[in-house]
Amino acid sequence: MSQPFDAPGYNRDASIVNPKGQGNLAPGPQHGAARPAPGGPFLIGEAMTGGYGKSGPDILHGCTIAVDRGEIAVIVGPNGAGKSTAMKALFGMLNLREGSVRLDGEDITELSPQDRVVKGMGFVPQTHNIFTSMTVEENLEMGAFIRRDDISETMEQVYELFPILKDKRHQAAGELSGGQRQQVAVGRALMTRPKVLMLDEPTAGVSPIVMDELFDRIIEVARTGLPVLMVEQNARQALEIADKGYVLVQGANAHTGTGRELLADPDVRASFLGG
Ligand SMILES: Nc1ncnc2c1ncn2[C@@H]1O[C@H](COP(=O)(O)OP(=O)(O)OP(=O)(O)O)[C@@H](O)[C@H]1O
Ligand SMILES: [Mg+2]
Repeated sequence: MSQPFDAPGYNRDASIVNPKGQGNLAPGPQHGAARPAPGGPFLIGEAMTGGYGKSGPDILHGCTIAVDRGEIAVIVGPNGAGKSTAMKALFGMLNLREGSVRLDGEDITELSPQDRVVKGMGFVPQTHNIFTSMTVEENLEMGAFIRRDDISETMEQVYELFPILKDKRHQAAGELSGGQRQQVAVGRALMTRPKVLMLDEPTAGVSPIVMDELFDRIIEVARTGLPVLMVEQNARQALEIADKGYVLVQGANAHTGTGRELLADPDVRASFLGG
C-alpha cells in the first residue's frame, strides 16, 4: 500500500517556476473563481481537430482547452473521451488537421514537443512518466536536460516540495510507491522550470489519502504562479480545486465552467459525478 507523504514541506519559493511569462508571483486567486487574463489565456489549444497518424480517424472534434495565469484548469470526462489526446495535442504529439495552439500569445502549432519544452511547457504523461531503472535523482537530472545552468537549486526546491524524494534520492524510481513515483514525475517536469505544468492523471492508482496529498502539493505549485492544466479521473475532487473545468465527451467540449459551476450543474452531476 502507498504511504502518505512526509510532513508538509511547503514550497513557498516562487523561483522554482520561471517567472518569465507569468502574470504575477503573488498568491494565486481564490480557487473556484476563474477570471480572464490580459492578453488571452497563457496556454490555449483552440478548436483542435485531429487524430493519430496520417490517416487515423479524428479523435478531437473542435476541442478547446485553455489555462490562464495563476490558474488550475482540469479536464474530466469518461474513459476514451480524448483527454490524453487533447493533452498530447497541446504538447505537439498529434498532427492537428484544424485548430491551433498558442503559448503566451505565440502560435506554437508547428513546434515539436522538444521545442515546446524549451518554450516552457512541462508535461507529465499518463503512463511511462519516469525512468524506473534510474534513481530518483537521475530522473530529476534527466528532467533538466534542456538546461545548461546550475540545476542544484531547482533540485533542492523539488526536494522541499516532496521531502520523501530526498530520502529516496539514491533508490531506483521503480522501487517507489505509486504516489512517490508520481512525485518523481512531477518533480522531473519541474526541473525544466516550466512556465506551464501539464499533468495527465497525476493521482492514477493512488489511495485517497495520497491523492489528497498530491492535490495539496499541486495547489502549492500553482500558488507559486505556475499555471497547471491537469486531467483527472477523480472528477469531483479535482473540480473542487479547479479554477476552470472542462468536461470532454467523444473528443468535444461538453461542459465548460468554473470548477464550482460544473460541480453545481445538474447535467454534469448526473452524467459524470454520480448524481
Ligand atoms: N496512440 C494511439 N493511436 C491510435 N488511437 C489512439 C491512441 N491513443 C488513444 N487512441 C484512441 O483515442 C481515443 C481517446 O483516447 P484517450 O487516451 O485520449 O482517452 P482518455 O480520455 O485519456 O481516456 P482514459 O480516461 O482511459 O485515460 C480512444 O478511442 C483511443 O482508443
Ligand atoms: Mg487518458
